[in-house]
Amino acid sequence: MNEKPAFDAPLHVGQLNLPDQAEFRDMFEGIFARQFYTNHGPLEHAADQALAEHFGVRHAITVVNGTVALMLLLRAMELSGEVIVPAFTFPATVQSLVWAGLKPVFCDVDGDTQMLNAALVEAAITPATSAILGVHIWGRGCDPHGLAGVAKKQGLQLLFDAAHATACTFEGQRIGGFGRAEIFSFHATKILSGAEGGCITTNDDALAARLRTLRSFHASDEHASGILRLNAKLSEAQAAMILLGLRHLDRFIQENRQRYELYRQGLAGIDGLEFIDYAAGEQSNYQFAVVRITATKLGISRDELLDWLTARNVLARRYFHPGVHRTEPFASALSTELKVTDELCQVLLQLPTGQAITQDHVRDICALIRSAIT
Ligand SMILES: Cc1ncc(COP(=O)(O)O)c(C=O)c1O
Repeated sequence: MNEKPAFDAPLHVGQLNLPDQAEFRDMFEGIFARQFYTNHGPLEHAADQALAEHFGVRHAITVVNGTVALMLLLRAMELSGEVIVPAFTFPATVQSLVWAGLKPVFCDVDGDTQMLNAALVEAAITPATSAILGVHIWGRGCDPHGLAGVAKKQGLQLLFDAAHATACTFEGQRIGGFGRAEIFSFHATKILSGAEGGCITTNDDALAARLRTLRSFHASDEHASGILRLNAKLSEAQAAMILLGLRHLDRFIQENRQRYELYRQGLAGIDGLEFIDYAAGEQSNYQFAVVRITATKLGISRDELLDWLTARNVLARRYFHPGVHRTEPFASALSTELKVTDELCQVLLQLPTGQAITQDHVRDICALIRSAIT
């Protein structure tokens, strides 16, 4: 086996998708000329409008990041007691529940979709449950109609963590309008990015007014009165990046799709290495190239393959590992078995993609993986 790094610089799972340089300069020169850097400037306003249009909802409320979007939303919805959530998610989904004074109740996920479904959630409901927090993993819809049915039947609130799902659809409907509200992340690793950034989308006018109040510490009753406030507002620089990203979103998606398809071709026919599919007929952002490793068939485990790639500067990632239920303070208090989640945390591997990864990189990574298993 070749022991030196295959690439001079590390290849990451997600890197900032950079906008066009000239547009970037124009946009930032505008900020400097206006000398309006934050505090609900024109670009924040434009980003809120453009995102509402993109997601097909009445309101998009931008904030500093996706975690804060969830924290604010949970407070604005005035939830209490327990919230049902998957442990197969990014830690921020669950941590934000704790920040909002709520108790996360972990529910196992469906082995086929890696997400919650109505039957699993229904079995996890207790008298203390106030809400269901679904997560659209890899940009695919987390049973939004099934979960809406359970929420309605049981009198629960429904919200979604859509951090992975910008520009994606479920049964033809743009993710962003499901449940009472959804949150998005515009972190540097996301398909649409403000380097940091996030937003909450909703069709509920009263909730949107509360969120607009909550995101700013200014003591005005411009939107809604009588609730907690926070400094969660987006800077003009972040808003500029998001607006530029929206202009190029279709191209970013198209290029990611090409990388994803090249990976599939390059790794086709390997027993023990299967791709997580995107649903046929849906729009997807192809932000992720995720494979499931079956060690008994492949001859090496997911973690051995990861170490082998890392040594060669291919920084694939174990998303999600460990499951949030295996981290403190949740692990000590765990009372349910999450068999599917535990298994998924051992077998999934995310491969580098995004603008920084060229098609040649993808071909070389595929060749490396093939050489690791022969
Ligand atoms: C599923 C999920 N939820 C929430 C977040 C938090 O978003 P942010 O990094 O913008 O705070 C992430 C971040 O990657 C995520 O993957």
